[in-house]
Amino acid sequence: MSETTPAGLSRREMITDSGKLAAAATLAGLSTGGVFAASDDTLRVALVGCGGRGTGAAVNALSTKSGPIKLVAMADVFRDRLDFSYKAISHEALGSKLAGTVEVPEEQKFIGFDAYKKAMDCLKKGDVVIFATPPAFRWVHFGYAIDKGLNVFMEKPVTVDGPGSRKMFKLGEESVKKNLKVGVGLMCRHCDARGELFKRIKDGQMGDLTLLRAYRQAGRTAMEASPPKPAGITELLYQVKRFHSFIWASGGCYSDFLIHNIDECCWMKDAWPVEASGSGGRHYRDKMIDQNFDVYSVEYTFADGAKLFLEGRTIPGCHQQFASYAQGTKGSAVISQSGHTPCYARMYKTQSMKSKDDLAWEWGKPEPNPYQLEWDQLVQAIRKDTPYNEVKRGVEASLVTAMGRLAAHTGKIVTYDEMLKHDQELAPGLDKLTFESPAPLQATADGKYAVPMPGQPVKVNGKTVKWEY
Ligand SMILES: NC(=O)c1ccc[n+]([C@@H]2O[C@H](COP(=O)([O-])OP(=O)(O)OC[C@H]3O[C@@H](n4cnc5c(N)ncnc54)[C@H](O)[C@@H]3O)[C@@H](O)[C@H]2O)c1
Repeated sequence: MSETTPAGLSRREMITDSGKLAAAATLAGLSTGGVFAASDDTLRVALVGCGGRGTGAAVNALSTKSGPIKLVAMADVFRDRLDFSYKAISHEALGSKLAGTVEVPEEQKFIGFDAYKKAMDCLKKGDVVIFATPPAFRWVHFGYAIDKGLNVFMEKPVTVDGPGSRKMFKLGEESVKKNLKVGVGLMCRHCDARGELFKRIKDGQMGDLTLLRAYRQAGRTAMEASPPKPAGITELLYQVKRFHSFIWASGGCYSDFLIHNIDECCWMKDAWPVEASGSGGRHYRDKMIDQNFDVYSVEYTFADGAKLFLEGRTIPGCHQQFASYAQGTKGSAVISQSGHTPCYARMYKTQSMKSKDDLAWEWGKPEPNPYQLEWDQLVQAIRKDTPYNEVKRGVEASLVTAMGRLAAHTGKIVTYDEMLKHDQELAPGLDKLTFESPAPLQATADGKYAVPMPGQPVKVNGKTVKWEY
């Protein structure tokens, strides 16, 4: 630890009496944390989880412009994923403004369930690590990053169940105490157009928000529908690879896909819902053995009685919609219209949202990419040592998402407090996982897996479970 505090006082000067001791402790907390080392201007980055988003996040990191930055270590459980990602990032950097930002020697590429530790061991205190594995591993990886004093970017969702959420709330508090900067990949929160809409709603321009609606209705998406496990891969690695299909790994397609729309609606309402009820079902899974429903329909209720209605669907051949809307006592708004970006945020004087004549406001300008903005802001905060920690909000969004999923999967009303206190840990012992470990979820004799059965207990791994599956 440096002998001089960030305020420029020596530690001895600060601990001359008990009052000053407290101040020293506060500042010591700051100076032991992820404050970027001023002696070396290059911010080093490690990537844990080298799939689609991890690769994209690494490119976003290397594209920040506030100072020199380098990718120096990578970790995955599949060699081919790491190699593909390394090639993609190197290709992106080749002959571009990112030239020279990729320096990952062979000995700093790590494979295995403990690879995350080895990649983080290549960093120095104050550097930054990216977590883009399936969300079930977040608390495991985050705990190690905190011990090492590293700043973090972690993808959403950050938790999938009650016990994991409680762990992450605690870790989040620890990371704040250590002054670590932590970004959570709910990038829409960094969108300027949505930000302007939020300000206008807070100004009262739409009156009170009484209704929000969110839709993510598409065909088959990512790995949410899985065929039976083929030969040549272990049960564990099959489930990790196809994590959208398995609730323990991702919260299923509900948590993974719908969290963005839920989060942006709750942002506009400036509140988290207090309870959820919902339904859903499997119509067309055919030979697919994953645990997801084809449709989800969830009603969230806020403390003031306002509602958020959410529709999720992954059935090909139907009307498709990826949008969120807000309705208030004095007007209505498009929060997002066709995916994450651009969102085309706008506000109407009426409820119909159809006629240009009713338009009260629209962003109407190009929208900078929020995936890049979230990184620009995180790296600026690291370099300037300004407060930046999105963990609490990220856990809240993940928990509220899990609350709706549990309501649909059980057919029960689930409150925020019940979800937070919920004792079903979907995958215990993830911090001790090795390639030889049994998968958290066991297939039955016919190669299928337990699926949620609203209104009924279900048998999972040979035991009857009253809750989710
Ligand atoms: N913010 C967004 O818009 C957005 C978009 C896509 C994905 N995501 C999130 O990013 C995360 C990854 O999604 P993806 O689409 O990149 O999936 P992916 O399958 O392409 O990538 C995940 C990678 O993590 C690796 N991995 C799995 N377990 C690991 C472990 N324990 N240690 C190290 N590596 C491990 C996998 O082998 C794979 O390479 C998810 O949480 C997802 O929700 C966010």
